[in-house]
Amino acid sequence: MKLTSLVRIWKHIKKTIIRLFSLDYIKFYKRWMDSRVSDNPLSAPTDIGWEIGGRIQFEFLKEIGLKPHHNFLDLGCGTLSLGQFLIPFLDIDNYVGMDISQDAILAGRGLVEDLSIGRFTRFIVNEDLIFDNPKVEEKFDFIWSHSVFNHLPIKYFYEFVENVKKISTNNCRILITVRIGEFSGPVGLIPHSSFSYSLNDIHSWLQKFGYSYRIVDTGDHWCGYRYDLDVIEIMRNEK
Ligand SMILES: C[S@@+](CC[C@H](N)C(=O)[O-])C[C@H]1O[C@@H](n2cnc3c(N)ncnc32)[C@H](O)[C@@H]1O
Repeated sequence: MKLTSLVRIWKHIKKTIIRLFSLDYIKFYKRWMDSRVSDNPLSAPTDIGWEIGGRIQFEFLKEIGLKPHHNFLDLGCGTLSLGQFLIPFLDIDNYVGMDISQDAILAGRGLVEDLSIGRFTRFIVNEDLIFDNPKVEEKFDFIWSHSVFNHLPIKYFYEFVENVKKISTNNCRILITVRIGEFSGPVGLIPHSSFSYSLNDIHSWLQKFGYSYRIVDTGDHWCGYRYDLDVIEIMRNEK
């Protein structure tokens, strides 16, 4: 058996053990991320690669209208694959990274240390998506979450939609990646850490809280990297 296959099997066993010892899903995912970061911070956030993964997001965001003056929240920022490009691009003080994994944030800060010189980048270690713990006082006009909700059961999407108003300006652009499926539920092997959401569930929950959505045409913007995630933009019905 090839070494890469053995490594994959070992990773899977490790993940299952962590899941067995974590009652709560978010605690499991945080521990899993911490363990990936300690193995290799550059491989932790995304399988397509730290630098390429971040560059694709950065080019896409600029293409759809991100400007340096936007007050930007990178929700589930991981080890700053996107942050490495955004921190120098945004006006000073306009980047905030939020993640449940303090280890990921610390590793990311180490990786992009020199970019932050003279800039006040802020990071929030959150425990849920209610935004009261810790309390997030500011409002953002751009919220982006890449490869986060496809790792979360749909109840966390619901939690986010219910609470995002607290941290968004009236004209805030909210964009998240999701895996769209026929049903909402886990995808792949136990322990589940990939989830799809049905458009029906997305639609009905958004409607309940006064939002609608559109699927963003990512066209060429993913630079030829086509993976099974869609970008949806969540729009407030009344401003
Ligand atoms: C697959 S990584 C993607 C990281 C980064 N967005 C990127 O594209 O490189 C998923 C990240 O989401 C974080 N995460 C998962 N659930 C979260 C939550 N409820 N709130 C904030 N971050 C979360 C994880 O700790 C992890 O860093």
